[in-house]
Amino acid sequence: MPDDFPLQSQTGVPGGPDVGPLVSQTPDALMLFGFWYRALPSNQLRRRELAKAMLLEQPLVIGRDRQGQAFALRDACPHRGMPLSRGSFDGEQVECPYHGWRFDAHSGQCQLIPSLVPEQNLKIDRIYAGSYPCEERDDFIWVFIPDPGPAGAGFSKPAPAPTPAPEIPKFSEHYKLAYLTADLPCNVDHGIIGLMDPAHGPFVHQAWWWRTQKSIHEKHKNFEPIPYGFRMSAHTPSSNSAPYKLLRLYADADSITTTIDFVLPNLRSEVIRAGKYWFSSLTTVTPITRNQCRIDVVAAWNLFRWLPFGPGLLKFVFAKFVEQDRSTMEMQAEGLKYNPHLMLIDDADRPAKWYFQLKAAHLEAKRTGAEMRHPMEGPVTLKWRS
Ligand code: FES
Ligand SMILES: [Fe+2]
Repeated sequence: MPDDFPLQSQTGVPGGPDVGPLVSQTPDALMLFGFWYRALPSNQLRRRELAKAMLLEQPLVIGRDRQGQAFALRDACPHRGMPLSRGSFDGEQVECPYHGWRFDAHSGQCQLIPSLVPEQNLKIDRIYAGSYPCEERDDFIWVFIPDPGPAGAGFSKPAPAPTPAPEIPKFSEHYKLAYLTADLPCNVDHGIIGLMDPAHGPFVHQAWWWRTQKSIHEKHKNFEPIPYGFRMSAHTPSSNSAPYKLLRLYADADSITTTIDFVLPNLRSEVIRAGKYWFSSLTTVTPITRNQCRIDVVAAWNLFRWLPFGPGLLKFVFAKFVEQDRSTMEMQAEGLKYNPHLMLIDDADRPAKWYFQLKAAHLEAKRTGAEMRHPMEGPVTLKWRS
């Protein structure tokens, strides 16, 4: 596999295979359209209320109809751009506060233009407020963000999403769910590569009850290509992994396996199984604007049913991790302001390289209409110390 870095311009260190190319990070990280994104936690949206959200620099108004079903519209009236989130909602139709146009909450189709007199036969059913496929999964509202339509063409009937929204894999009928969310002051690429970067662990996530820099040791991990992403193959989890430490209370260490997948545009899923017990999480880093993203960790598990401090402890550990990542990225954002040249090195940053290559391959396939060429030719073992 070539070690180049297709999205980025390369500078310095010509042909230094041991150092890897010095790369200049493009400040306007590309946001991928045509995918599902998490918009907001379900419990922030009550029936017959409107909430604002922003995904990929698209302002959205999200609501829940009388039956409790969620919908997402572009938060700009197609008449003169008034945010529809400032309007009113009766459980079926959203009314713009400026001239009272009314839109069906789900399709965005215009239902009423109050200023029209009977002989003005404007075909209002051909007018749409932009609307987006919207689904609720695992305590989150997901919105499908399609490729932007032609500029100035107005909106038309929304196309259905090509796939259902992503879901956390679950392995039993009964389980618990919990989520954590944090805003990150950086572009989505830094958020994502921060997520798949093993080398920051001992420095950012150290704690006396967890691990210290002294616990750094050499690790070998097997990776394989999967559609739109890569998998860290089923293996006995790192002795530093959070749920693993808790799972050891339940099962003997050798029976525990874990699989970690990364899939475009932003999905990291981790499944840990130990006999009939399982822990599964789906973490996403969602682009809000070019310089801002949000991390959402949602976990499902069937453990701890008899262990009173279990879920609380797990949430505490995760909250601590997410907060450590968030404050690290806040510090990093200060340095990134001045657009420094950056590097990705082998092997610790190889997953980050794959991420950029997958993104580039996806965009290339979209441009040419050809099938996406996966950047990995087959399974590989990466080595690093962490
Ligand atoms: S701007 Fe919405 S009705 Fe005129
Ligand atoms: Fe981290």
